[in-house]
Amino acid sequence: MLEKLNALIEKAKERMAELQTLQEAEELRIKLLGKKGELTEILRSVKDLSPEERKALGRVANEARDKIENGLNARMRDFKLRTEQAELIKQKIDVTQPGKIVSIGSRHLLTITIDEMTRIFRSMGFSVSEGPEVETVFNNFDALNADPNHPSRDITDTFYINDEVILRTQTSPVQVRTILAQKPPIMVVAPGRCFRCDTPDATHSPMFHQIEGLAVDEGISMADLKGVMDSFAKQMFGSSTRTRFRPHHFPFTEPSAEMDVSCFKCGGVGCRVCKGSGWIEILGCGEVHPNVLKVGNIDTERYTGFAFGIGVERTAMLKYEVDDIRLFYENDIRFVGQFR
Ligand code: DAH
Repeated sequence: MLEKLNALIEKAKERMAELQTLQEAEELRIKLLGKKGELTEILRSVKDLSPEERKALGRVANEARDKIENGLNARMRDFKLRTEQAELIKQKIDVTQPGKIVSIGSRHLLTITIDEMTRIFRSMGFSVSEGPEVETVFNNFDALNADPNHPSRDITDTFYINDEVILRTQTSPVQVRTILAQKPPIMVVAPGRCFRCDTPDATHSPMFHQIEGLAVDEGISMADLKGVMDSFAKQMFGSSTRTRFRPHHFPFTEPSAEMDVSCFKCGGVGCRVCKGSGWIEILGCGEVHPNVLKVGNIDTERYTGFAFGIGVERTAMLKYEVDDIRLFYENDIRFVGQFR
């Protein structure tokens, strides 16, 4: 019996030395000290021995059990510590590493331009309004005094949804909506999308943006229009900018004009941007036609007004020297990210 016990102790020592993992240690514990463990069996059979044998063997067996138990416990503590440390090393953060770069988006150049324009007009007392992109033929043409045979009404120029509903070709219908909803004094600008059946090229797009302006009050004259437009041009393109008005025709204004600004690239000498003329056309404007005011039941003896329409893409292209309108809609991050 004693031999068997000693052999077991030797074997246990060897096995304990070979342990690699916590699991193996647990398995060995069960194998030796568990309910049916090898050492447990021996300890159990001690009671069947003669008193002397029992005394000798019992002591050795108990000592062996304590040793094995302590030894295993120590190994298990060791294994646990090691896994904990391995875990900590895995989680270690290198605080000296450079941080991850979070790329911050930028506003679209059209948004930047619209924001800049509306800021300028706000500073002059205009409020900002918006109208729908799907409009009635009435608001887009009829109420704006467009001749029933005006070529812009043609299905080759305008996107029709049905006989009465279109995609607006200009922001001018917001003028109609405004005078139908408000009484003078009126001072409003309305930025937004417009649509025309144009084949895309470097300067045309079937979808583009305008900003509309309308002012209606007692005693408003062409001089007010010129003052506001000149101030806008100076704030938008630089304080040395000069403006000039050329007679033009729009159905909804009388008189009508187009405004040119002195070329901000060459200062008026003539260059590639202004095609050698020194001037760049930037907007259409005029005194609101009485027929338009009448749609809103505005007393045309008492009130007059001015209106203007500015192409947003055109303005942005000139100011930021963008040479192809299609760049605005491709959303290539290399283009979009250049403007902050
Ligand atoms: N709606 C015109 C266009 O699309 C632009 C315009 C010209 C608007 C004169 C106006 C204006 O309000 O008075 O070409």
